[in-house]
Amino acid sequence: MVIEMKISKLTENIGAEVIDVNLKKEIDRGAKERLNQALTDNIVLVIRDQEFKPAEYLAAVSVFGEPMEQHFTQYQLKETPLVNYVSNRDAYNGGTKPVVRGAGWHTDHTNHERPPKCTSLYAVVLPDEGGDTGVANMRAGYAALPDDMKRRINKLQTLNVIEGSASPRPTSKLPKEGKGKHDRGILQPLVRTHLECGENALYFHPIKTEHIVGMSPEESQMLLQELLELAVKDEFIYRHKWRLGDMLIWDNRCALHQAYQDYDLSQERVLHRVILHGERPFGPSMPRVA
Ligand SMILES: [Fe+2]
Repeated sequence: MVIEMKISKLTENIGAEVIDVNLKKEIDRGAKERLNQALTDNIVLVIRDQEFKPAEYLAAVSVFGEPMEQHFTQYQLKETPLVNYVSNRDAYNGGTKPVVRGAGWHTDHTNHERPPKCTSLYAVVLPDEGGDTGVANMRAGYAALPDDMKRRINKLQTLNVIEGSASPRPTSKLPKEGKGKHDRGILQPLVRTHLECGENALYFHPIKTEHIVGMSPEESQMLLQELLELAVKDEFIYRHKWRLGDMLIWDNRCALHQAYQDYDLSQERVLHRVILHGERPFGPSMPRVA
């Protein structure tokens, strides 16, 4: 008997769970299309019960696109450098104190001209409880904004660097190698149109925003905070509670994500991460280029 892959919604506004699929094996075109469509429709997928070695994980994420290199090469796995690890034991300052990387709502690598379209995580070592990952639907977040706010932000662009001068959470212990590597400043639309579904979404990374064009860094951060308060509503968030074997993947073009600092940091937490090549962002403030 062939068991069919099942995809079911996790919440009303965001997230779907995928069961009865083994991404260590080659899947057919139909299954691949269903998974990609489910990701576009639901923004984040939880694919359960996987058992990956790093190279198998990389191949599994490739079902959704082409993997790309990540910012910090010191977190690459030696044998499979397109897979990075995210560990609370590997602090920026040399690993003496546990850290939670990725706390605070953001989308990845906005200082790249072509930021990754998706980010995926795979659980390797989990604390007894917590260490959750949140993903927020920014299509819904944008749609819920008052009309005058939509009109105002539709015209705006952010200038993105590795770390903005008025960043709300300075990470000044970033290794030199990371700082400045992509630092010439990249413009992104504050409202981004999705390539596949055509819907607009809020699109920004508070730490990487140096400023919004026409505003000071401080005014820019105030507007971004206001947008976070208006748009990241509880009903738009999927908060993932990790189980071993979970592979999570979300669409960075229409989602913000964060790590929750909700667990005993004396316990180890290690995830593997892969990001996928994306297109040049476009939106009401920025025309689409080929
Ligand atoms: Fe992130």
